[in-house]
Amino acid sequence: MADETRLRDCYELVISGQDVDDPGVPADSYRRFRSQWTHGWAGNPQQIWLATAASGALLGCYVLALPERENRANGFLSPVVAPSARRRGVGTALVAHAAEQAALAGRTLLMADARVGAPGHTFAGVIGARPGLTEVRRVLDVGPALHARLPALQAEADAHAAGYTLRRWAGVTPDDLVSQVCALNTAMEDAPHEESFEPLAWDADRLLEQERRAVAEGARMYSVAALRDAASAAAALTQVFIDPDVAGWGFQGLTAVIREHRGHRLGLLVKVAMLEWLAEAEPELGQIVTGNAAANKHMIAVNEKLAHRVTDYFQFFELDVAAARKLAVRQ
Ligand SMILES: CC(C)(COP(=O)(O)OP(=O)(O)OC[C@H]1O[C@@H](n2cnc3c(N)ncnc32)[C@H](O)[C@@H]1OP(=O)(O)O)[C@@H](O)C(=O)NCCC(=O)NCCS
Repeated sequence: MADETRLRDCYELVISGQDVDDPGVPADSYRRFRSQWTHGWAGNPQQIWLATAASGALLGCYVLALPERENRANGFLSPVVAPSARRRGVGTALVAHAAEQAALAGRTLLMADARVGAPGHTFAGVIGARPGLTEVRRVLDVGPALHARLPALQAEADAHAAGYTLRRWAGVTPDDLVSQVCALNTAMEDAPHEESFEPLAWDADRLLEQERRAVAEGARMYSVAALRDAASAAAALTQVFIDPDVAGWGFQGLTAVIREHRGHRLGLLVKVAMLEWLAEAEPELGQIVTGNAAANKHMIAVNEKLAHRVTDYFQFFELDVAAARKLAVRQ
Protein backbone atom coordinates (compact mmCIF):
# COMPACT_ATOMS: atom_id res chain seq x y z
CA MET A 1 0.00 0.00 0.00
CA ALA A 2 2.93 2.34 0.78
CA ASP A 3 4.21 1.60 -2.70
CA GLU A 4 0.81 2.36 -4.19
CA THR A 5 0.85 5.77 -2.48
CA ARG A 6 4.33 6.46 -3.84
CA LEU A 7 3.29 5.38 -7.29
CA ARG A 8 0.34 7.78 -7.10
CA ASP A 9 2.74 10.54 -6.08
CA CYS A 10 4.90 9.75 -9.12
CA TYR A 11 1.81 9.89 -11.30
CA GLU A 12 0.75 13.27 -9.89
CA LEU A 13 4.29 14.53 -10.46
CA VAL A 14 4.35 13.35 -14.08
CA ILE A 15 0.98 14.80 -15.00
CA SER A 16 1.77 18.10 -13.30
CA GLY A 17 4.31 18.68 -16.08
CA GLN A 18 1.96 17.69 -18.90
CA ASP A 19 1.24 21.22 -20.12
CA VAL A 20 4.96 21.79 -20.73
CA ASP A 21 6.16 18.29 -21.48
CA ASP A 22 3.37 16.98 -23.71
CA PRO A 23 0.45 19.39 -24.11
CA GLY A 24 -0.98 17.97 -27.36
CA VAL A 25 -2.59 14.86 -25.89
CA PRO A 26 -4.52 14.17 -22.70
CA ALA A 27 -2.50 13.02 -19.70
CA ASP A 28 -2.26 9.27 -19.21
CA SER A 29 -4.84 7.86 -16.86
CA TYR A 30 -3.53 6.47 -13.59
CA ARG A 31 -4.60 3.05 -14.85
CA ARG A 32 -2.26 3.28 -17.86
CA PHE A 33 0.57 4.94 -15.95
CA ARG A 34 0.41 2.27 -13.25
CA SER A 35 0.56 -0.46 -15.83
CA GLN A 36 3.53 1.11 -17.60
CA TRP A 37 5.48 1.82 -14.45
CA THR A 38 4.83 -1.50 -12.75
CA HIS A 39 4.60 -4.10 -15.51
CA GLY A 40 6.17 -2.24 -18.38
CA TRP A 41 6.29 -3.50 -21.92
CA ALA A 42 6.42 -7.21 -22.69
CA GLY A 43 6.93 -8.14 -19.06
CA ASN A 44 10.41 -6.63 -18.79
CA PRO A 45 11.63 -6.24 -15.21
CA GLN A 46 11.96 -2.65 -14.16
CA GLN A 47 12.95 -0.49 -11.24
CA ILE A 48 11.40 2.71 -9.94
CA TRP A 49 13.47 5.15 -7.88
CA LEU A 50 12.33 8.33 -6.16
CA ALA A 51 14.32 11.44 -5.24
CA THR A 52 12.98 13.28 -2.22
CA ALA A 53 13.90 16.50 -0.42
CA ALA A 54 14.89 16.49 3.25
CA SER A 55 11.26 17.46 3.95
CA GLY A 56 10.14 14.24 2.28
CA ALA A 57 8.66 16.08 -0.72
CA LEU A 58 8.99 14.20 -3.96
CA LEU A 59 11.40 15.98 -6.34
CA GLY A 60 11.63 13.45 -9.11
CA CYS A 61 11.48 9.80 -10.03
CA TYR A 62 12.45 7.42 -12.77
CA VAL A 63 11.54 4.06 -14.17
CA LEU A 64 14.32 1.95 -15.64
CA ALA A 65 13.38 -1.11 -17.69
CA LEU A 66 15.99 -3.85 -17.80
CA PRO A 67 14.86 -6.35 -20.44
CA GLU A 68 15.86 -9.96 -19.97
CA ARG A 69 15.07 -11.59 -23.29
CA GLU A 70 16.15 -9.10 -25.93
CA ASN A 71 18.09 -5.87 -25.37
CA ARG A 72 20.14 -7.34 -22.56
CA ALA A 73 22.78 -4.64 -22.99
CA ASN A 74 20.22 -1.82 -22.85
CA GLY A 75 18.28 -0.01 -20.15
CA PHE A 76 15.23 2.07 -21.05
CA LEU A 77 15.02 5.13 -18.88
CA SER A 78 12.24 7.65 -18.16
CA PRO A 79 13.37 10.29 -15.65
CA VAL A 80 10.91 12.96 -14.55
CA VAL A 81 11.39 15.96 -12.27
CA ALA A 82 8.60 17.95 -10.60
CA PRO A 83 8.15 21.22 -12.51
CA SER A 84 8.87 23.22 -9.33
CA ALA A 85 12.19 21.38 -8.82
CA ARG A 86 13.64 21.67 -12.32
CA ARG A 87 16.96 23.27 -13.28
CA ARG A 88 18.50 22.35 -9.95
CA GLY A 89 20.37 19.28 -11.08
CA VAL A 90 17.79 16.69 -10.02
CA GLY A 91 17.35 15.35 -13.56
CA THR A 92 21.10 14.89 -13.97
CA ALA A 93 21.26 13.16 -10.58
CA LEU A 94 18.47 10.78 -11.58
CA VAL A 95 20.26 9.81 -14.80
CA ALA A 96 23.55 9.28 -12.95
CA HIS A 97 21.76 7.11 -10.38
CA ALA A 98 20.00 5.12 -13.09
CA ALA A 99 23.36 4.56 -14.78
CA GLU A 100 24.66 2.90 -11.60
CA GLN A 101 21.64 0.60 -11.52
CA ALA A 102 22.04 -0.16 -15.22
CA ALA A 103 25.73 -0.97 -14.72
CA LEU A 104 24.87 -3.29 -11.83
CA ALA A 105 22.52 -5.11 -14.21
CA GLY A 106 25.30 -5.41 -16.81
CA ARG A 107 23.93 -2.77 -19.20
CA THR A 108 26.14 -0.58 -21.36
CA LEU A 109 23.58 1.69 -23.02
CA LEU A 110 20.71 3.84 -21.76
CA MET A 111 17.87 4.58 -24.17
CA ALA A 112 15.14 7.21 -23.84
CA ASP A 113 12.94 9.41 -25.93
CA ALA A 114 11.90 13.02 -25.65
CA ARG A 115 9.46 15.28 -27.43
CA VAL A 116 11.17 17.77 -29.69
CA GLY A 117 10.74 21.24 -28.16
CA ALA A 118 10.14 19.93 -24.64
CA PRO A 119 12.60 20.45 -21.74
CA GLY A 120 13.58 16.78 -21.91
CA HIS A 121 14.89 17.21 -25.45
CA THR A 122 17.25 20.04 -24.50
CA PHE A 123 18.26 18.20 -21.35
CA ALA A 124 19.15 15.02 -23.26
CA GLY A 125 21.48 16.98 -25.54
CA VAL A 126 23.10 18.80 -22.61
CA ILE A 127 23.92 15.57 -20.74
CA GLY A 128 25.59 14.20 -23.88
CA ALA A 129 22.99 11.73 -25.19
CA ARG A 130 23.24 10.92 -28.91
CA PRO A 131 20.11 11.68 -30.95
CA GLY A 132 18.77 8.77 -33.00
CA LEU A 133 15.61 8.13 -34.99
CA THR A 134 12.75 10.56 -35.06
CA GLU A 135 9.27 9.32 -34.34
CA VAL A 136 6.28 11.30 -35.56
CA ARG A 137 3.03 11.45 -33.67
CA ARG A 138 -0.11 11.85 -35.73
CA VAL A 139 -3.70 12.35 -34.69
CA LEU A 140 -6.67 11.25 -36.75
CA ASP A 141 -9.86 13.22 -36.20
CA VAL A 142 -12.76 10.80 -36.18
CA GLY A 143 -16.11 12.16 -37.26
CA PRO A 144 -18.43 12.78 -40.21
CA ALA A 145 -15.66 14.21 -42.45
CA LEU A 146 -13.57 11.07 -42.02
CA HIS A 147 -16.53 8.77 -42.50
CA ALA A 148 -17.46 10.56 -45.72
CA ARG A 149 -14.04 9.62 -47.12
CA LEU A 150 -14.06 5.98 -46.06
CA PRO A 151 -16.13 4.47 -48.92
CA ALA A 152 -13.65 5.71 -51.56
CA LEU A 153 -10.71 4.41 -49.53
CA GLN A 154 -12.50 1.12 -49.04
CA ALA A 155 -13.03 0.84 -52.81
CA GLU A 156 -9.35 1.58 -53.42
CA ALA A 157 -8.28 -1.12 -50.97
CA ASP A 158 -10.83 -3.66 -52.28
CA ALA A 159 -9.53 -3.22 -55.82
CA HIS A 160 -6.12 -4.54 -54.71
CA ALA A 161 -7.15 -6.99 -52.01
CA ALA A 162 -9.01 -9.72 -53.91
CA GLY A 163 -8.62 -13.05 -52.14
CA TYR A 164 -8.53 -11.60 -48.62
CA THR A 165 -11.33 -11.52 -46.06
CA LEU A 166 -11.59 -9.66 -42.79
CA ARG A 167 -11.93 -11.01 -39.28
CA ARG A 168 -12.33 -8.89 -36.19
CA TRP A 169 -12.38 -9.49 -32.46
CA ALA A 170 -12.56 -7.51 -29.23
CA GLY A 171 -10.21 -8.33 -26.36
CA VAL A 172 -7.69 -11.15 -26.26
CA THR A 173 -6.67 -12.85 -29.54
CA PRO A 174 -8.74 -15.99 -30.26
CA ASP A 175 -6.82 -19.26 -29.84
CA ASP A 176 -6.75 -20.13 -33.53
CA LEU A 177 -5.05 -16.85 -34.42
CA VAL A 178 -2.48 -16.63 -31.61
CA SER A 179 0.51 -17.95 -33.54
CA GLN A 180 -0.34 -15.76 -36.51
CA VAL A 181 -0.73 -12.65 -34.38
CA CYS A 182 2.67 -13.47 -32.87
CA ALA A 183 4.08 -13.58 -36.41
CA LEU A 184 2.49 -10.22 -37.16
CA ASN A 185 4.01 -8.71 -34.02
CA THR A 186 7.37 -10.14 -34.96
CA ALA A 187 6.93 -8.65 -38.46
CA MET A 188 7.37 -5.26 -36.78
CA GLU A 189 11.11 -5.94 -36.83
CA ASP A 190 10.97 -4.63 -40.38
CA ALA A 191 9.86 -1.23 -39.12
CA PRO A 192 12.75 1.24 -38.82
CA HIS A 193 14.48 1.02 -35.44
CA GLU A 194 17.77 1.90 -33.78
CA GLU A 195 20.65 -0.41 -34.63
CA SER A 196 21.29 -1.03 -30.97
CA PHE A 197 17.64 -1.90 -30.34
CA GLU A 198 16.85 -5.58 -30.72
CA PRO A 199 13.23 -6.10 -31.86
CA LEU A 200 11.14 -8.42 -29.73
CA ALA A 201 10.35 -11.98 -30.73
CA TRP A 202 6.75 -12.81 -29.86
CA ASP A 203 5.43 -16.15 -28.67
CA ALA A 204 2.03 -17.19 -27.32
CA ASP A 205 2.98 -16.74 -23.66
CA ARG A 206 4.33 -13.26 -24.18
CA LEU A 207 1.42 -12.16 -26.34
CA LEU A 208 -1.34 -13.54 -24.12
CA GLU A 209 0.26 -12.29 -20.95
CA GLN A 210 0.40 -8.77 -22.39
CA GLU A 211 -3.15 -8.87 -23.78
CA ARG A 212 -4.74 -10.44 -20.71
CA ARG A 213 -3.17 -7.86 -18.49
CA ALA A 214 -4.37 -5.00 -20.71
CA VAL A 215 -7.92 -6.38 -20.62
CA ALA A 216 -7.78 -7.06 -16.87
CA GLU A 217 -6.70 -3.45 -16.35
CA GLY A 218 -9.80 -2.29 -18.19
CA ALA A 219 -8.47 -1.42 -21.66
CA ARG A 220 -10.84 -2.14 -24.51
CA MET A 221 -8.91 -3.73 -27.37
CA TYR A 222 -10.14 -3.91 -30.94
CA SER A 223 -8.39 -5.96 -33.61
CA VAL A 224 -9.06 -6.34 -37.33
CA ALA A 225 -7.11 -8.86 -39.40
CA ALA A 226 -7.05 -9.62 -43.12
CA LEU A 227 -6.89 -13.36 -43.81
CA ARG A 228 -5.77 -14.96 -47.04
CA ASP A 229 -8.89 -16.89 -48.07
CA ALA A 230 -7.40 -20.16 -49.24
CA ALA A 231 -5.11 -20.70 -46.26
CA SER A 232 -7.01 -18.68 -43.64
CA ALA A 233 -3.59 -17.25 -42.83
CA ALA A 234 -3.50 -13.83 -41.16
CA ALA A 235 -1.77 -11.43 -43.54
CA ALA A 236 -2.42 -8.09 -41.86
CA LEU A 237 -3.56 -6.75 -38.51
CA THR A 238 -4.45 -3.44 -36.93
CA GLN A 239 -5.28 -2.85 -33.26
CA VAL A 240 -6.75 0.09 -31.36
CA PHE A 241 -6.93 0.45 -27.59
CA ILE A 242 -9.45 2.52 -25.66
CA ASP A 243 -8.70 3.61 -22.12
CA PRO A 244 -12.08 4.13 -20.40
CA ASP A 245 -10.52 6.89 -18.31
CA VAL A 246 -9.43 8.99 -21.31
CA ALA A 247 -12.73 10.02 -22.87
CA GLY A 248 -12.86 10.48 -26.62
CA TRP A 249 -9.35 9.20 -27.39
CA GLY A 250 -8.18 5.96 -28.95
CA PHE A 251 -4.62 4.69 -29.10
CA GLN A 252 -3.36 2.97 -32.19
CA GLY A 253 -1.52 -0.24 -31.40
CA LEU A 254 0.17 -2.46 -33.90
CA THR A 255 -0.51 -2.27 -37.63
CA ALA A 256 1.48 -4.82 -39.60
CA VAL A 257 1.36 -6.65 -42.91
CA ILE A 258 3.33 -9.89 -43.34
CA ARG A 259 6.06 -9.34 -45.92
CA GLU A 260 4.73 -11.67 -48.64
CA HIS A 261 1.31 -10.01 -48.48
CA ARG A 262 2.53 -6.46 -48.92
CA GLY A 263 1.39 -4.43 -51.94
CA HIS A 264 -2.32 -5.38 -51.64
CA ARG A 265 -3.40 -2.26 -49.72
CA LEU A 266 -4.04 -4.48 -46.71
CA GLY A 267 -2.87 -1.81 -44.27
CA LEU A 268 -5.54 0.52 -45.64
CA LEU A 269 -8.12 -2.28 -45.81
CA VAL A 270 -7.81 -3.21 -42.12
CA LYS A 271 -7.65 0.40 -40.95
CA VAL A 272 -10.79 1.39 -42.84
CA ALA A 273 -12.61 -1.65 -41.44
CA MET A 274 -11.42 -0.70 -37.96
CA LEU A 275 -12.80 2.83 -38.32
CA GLU A 276 -16.17 1.50 -39.50
CA TRP A 277 -16.30 -0.83 -36.51
CA LEU A 278 -15.28 1.82 -33.98
CA ALA A 279 -18.03 4.12 -35.24
CA GLU A 280 -20.55 1.60 -33.89
CA ALA A 281 -18.60 0.24 -30.93
CA GLU A 282 -17.11 3.49 -29.60
CA PRO A 283 -19.45 6.29 -30.67
CA GLU A 284 -17.72 8.78 -28.34
CA LEU A 285 -14.39 8.38 -30.09
CA GLY A 286 -13.10 11.71 -31.42
CA GLN A 287 -9.39 11.16 -32.03
CA ILE A 288 -6.95 8.33 -32.54
CA VAL A 289 -3.31 8.95 -31.78
CA THR A 290 -0.52 7.03 -33.46
CA GLY A 291 3.28 7.13 -33.65
CA ASN A 292 5.57 5.97 -36.44
CA ALA A 293 9.26 6.22 -37.14
CA ALA A 294 9.69 9.12 -39.56
CA ALA A 295 11.34 6.69 -41.99
CA ASN A 296 8.37 4.28 -42.04
CA LYS A 297 7.06 5.55 -45.36
CA HIS A 298 4.56 2.78 -46.15
CA MET A 299 2.72 3.10 -42.86
CA ILE A 300 2.79 6.88 -43.05
CA ALA A 301 1.35 6.78 -46.58
CA VAL A 302 -1.63 4.81 -45.25
CA ASN A 303 -2.07 7.24 -42.37
CA GLU A 304 -1.89 10.23 -44.69
CA LYS A 305 -4.58 8.79 -46.94
CA LEU A 306 -6.80 8.68 -43.88
CA ALA A 307 -5.83 12.34 -43.17
CA HIS A 308 -3.90 11.95 -39.95
CA ARG A 309 -2.30 15.25 -38.96
CA VAL A 310 1.19 15.56 -37.52
CA THR A 311 1.16 16.93 -33.99
CA ASP A 312 4.60 16.21 -32.50
CA TYR A 313 8.04 14.83 -33.13
CA PHE A 314 9.88 12.62 -30.70
CA GLN A 315 13.55 11.82 -30.74
CA PHE A 316 15.21 8.68 -29.48
CA PHE A 317 18.40 9.16 -27.51
CA GLU A 318 21.20 6.86 -26.46
CA LEU A 319 23.72 7.49 -23.73
CA ASP A 320 26.59 5.17 -22.82
CA VAL A 321 26.24 3.95 -19.26
CA ALA A 322 29.94 4.66 -18.69
CA ALA A 323 29.46 8.31 -19.67
CA ALA A 324 26.26 8.66 -17.62
CA ARG A 325 28.08 7.41 -14.53
CA LYS A 326 30.51 10.30 -14.87
CA LEU A 327 27.88 13.06 -15.03
CA ALA A 328 28.61 15.83 -12.57
CA VAL A 329 25.91 15.68 -9.89
CA ARG A 330 25.17 18.82 -7.89
CA GLN A 331 25.06 18.28 -4.13
C1 LIG B 1 14.16 16.51 -18.54
C2 LIG B 1 14.05 16.73 -17.03
C3 LIG B 1 14.13 15.36 -16.35
C4 LIG B 1 15.24 17.59 -16.58
O1 LIG B 1 15.20 17.73 -15.16
P1 LIG B 1 16.01 18.91 -14.40
O2 LIG B 1 16.06 18.55 -12.99
O3 LIG B 1 15.44 20.23 -14.79
O4 LIG B 1 17.45 18.75 -15.09
P2 LIG B 1 18.82 19.43 -14.60
O5 LIG B 1 18.54 20.51 -13.63
O6 LIG B 1 19.73 18.35 -14.18
O7 LIG B 1 19.32 20.06 -15.98
C5 LIG B 1 20.63 19.90 -16.49
C6 LIG B 1 20.82 20.84 -17.65
O8 LIG B 1 19.95 20.49 -18.73
C7 LIG B 1 19.57 21.68 -19.44
N1 LIG B 1 18.14 21.87 -19.34
C8 LIG B 1 17.25 21.18 -18.58
N2 LIG B 1 16.00 21.65 -18.78
C9 LIG B 1 16.11 22.65 -19.65
C10 LIG B 1 15.18 23.54 -20.23
N3 LIG B 1 13.87 23.49 -19.92
N4 LIG B 1 15.63 24.46 -21.11
C11 LIG B 1 16.93 24.56 -21.42
N5 LIG B 1 17.88 23.74 -20.88
C12 LIG B 1 17.46 22.81 -20.02
C13 LIG B 1 20.30 22.83 -18.75
O9 LIG B 1 21.55 22.98 -19.41
C14 LIG B 1 20.48 22.28 -17.36
O10 LIG B 1 21.55 22.90 -16.67
P3 LIG B 1 21.35 24.39 -16.07
O11 LIG B 1 20.03 24.43 -15.37
O12 LIG B 1 22.53 24.54 -15.14
O13 LIG B 1 21.39 25.32 -17.22
C15 LIG B 1 12.73 17.48 -16.68
O14 LIG B 1 12.60 18.62 -17.49
C16 LIG B 1 11.51 16.61 -16.88
O15 LIG B 1 11.07 15.95 -15.94
N6 LIG B 1 10.96 16.60 -18.10
C17 LIG B 1 9.83 15.67 -18.41
C18 LIG B 1 10.28 14.23 -18.64
C19 LIG B 1 11.39 14.10 -19.66
O16 LIG B 1 11.36 14.70 -20.71
N7 LIG B 1 12.41 13.28 -19.34
C20 LIG B 1 13.64 13.14 -20.12
C21 LIG B 1 13.57 12.18 -21.22
S1 LIG B 1 15.14 12.10 -22.03
